[in-house]
Amino acid sequence: MASSKELECAKYEVDDEGIAWVTFNRPEKRNAMSPQLHYDMVEIIAELENLVDAKLIVITGAGESWSAGMDLREFFRATDNDPAARHKSYWAHRQWTQFITASNKATIAMVNGYCFGGAFTALAACDIVITADDATFGLSEVNWGILPGGNVSKVFSDLTNNRNAMFYAMTGRTFDGPKAVEMGVATLSVPKDKLREEVLIIARELMEKAPMVLAYTKQAVRNVGDMDMNMAYEYLATKNTALFGIDPEGTRSKGMTEFLDNKTYRPGLGPVKRDD
Ligand code: COA
Repeated sequence: MASSKELECAKYEVDDEGIAWVTFNRPEKRNAMSPQLHYDMVEIIAELENLVDAKLIVITGAGESWSAGMDLREFFRATDNDPAARHKSYWAHRQWTQFITASNKATIAMVNGYCFGGAFTALAACDIVITADDATFGLSEVNWGILPGGNVSKVFSDLTNNRNAMFYAMTGRTFDGPKAVEMGVATLSVPKDKLREEVLIIARELMEKAPMVLAYTKQAVRNVGDMDMNMAYEYLATKNTALFGIDPEGTRSKGMTEFLDNKTYRPGLGPVKRDD
């Protein structure tokens, strides 16, 4: 193992391949997101971003849950009369989920069980979501008296569509992995005993790409969603020019030489081989 850290409510291990396995670690509370869990995640995600050995981030949950959403006791009730404390944990939640969105590293949510309410903001922040077929997703807020805040209403509508968002937010009904894929909330759904295997396959596939090209690609795809057509044209052209200039591996030139001149690979079928 290259490196690891265990905090009170979250931990990570970077394996020899460079995969950083981040775990929400409150299994006895179904990994409900307490203020401390948010503080731990801020520390972990910030640290991993600058850890050269960590090439890709996988986020999962200990035990039978990915995360049961915000902690009703510690995040909500304990801070109902303490706006400064509420803001502190709210801010930390916003920080680490936005760190994930902005990360230069590919991020995969490995959903091993329950995913409720506030957990959707983290789920949406990840680039790819691989879920167990029998995972249980739900916007349960309506069942206990709040609306899906913490940007859940926004990210859920963005992932799927307004009809689905309205239905699941209003009914609080749960749905499983295959349904999450059908709605665009998850990328792939697999039997639970194949979950880690499938995540490994995708992680290895991503790590074959040039890291800078992958980072620019994920940023571009995420950012164009908020742009109109003209802005997107301009942004993507500029972003590609920047990538050409900044990619330390010179992937574009190398790829063209290998395909057009040396005829050693076909970009349609896989990435150009990177130097070891
Ligand atoms: N906030 C605070 N505590 C939570 C929690 C949450 N979101 N989710 C689970 N827990 C705690 C329970 O209070 C319980 O604590 P206790 O052992 O001290 O009593 C423990 O985790 C286990 O929960 P339990 O309900 O017994 O487990 P379960 O496996 O039967 O059910 C859930 C799991 C996730 C279906 C259920 O706990 C639940 O509905 N949680 C709330 C989900 C929610 O509405 N999240 C949205 C928040 S925005």
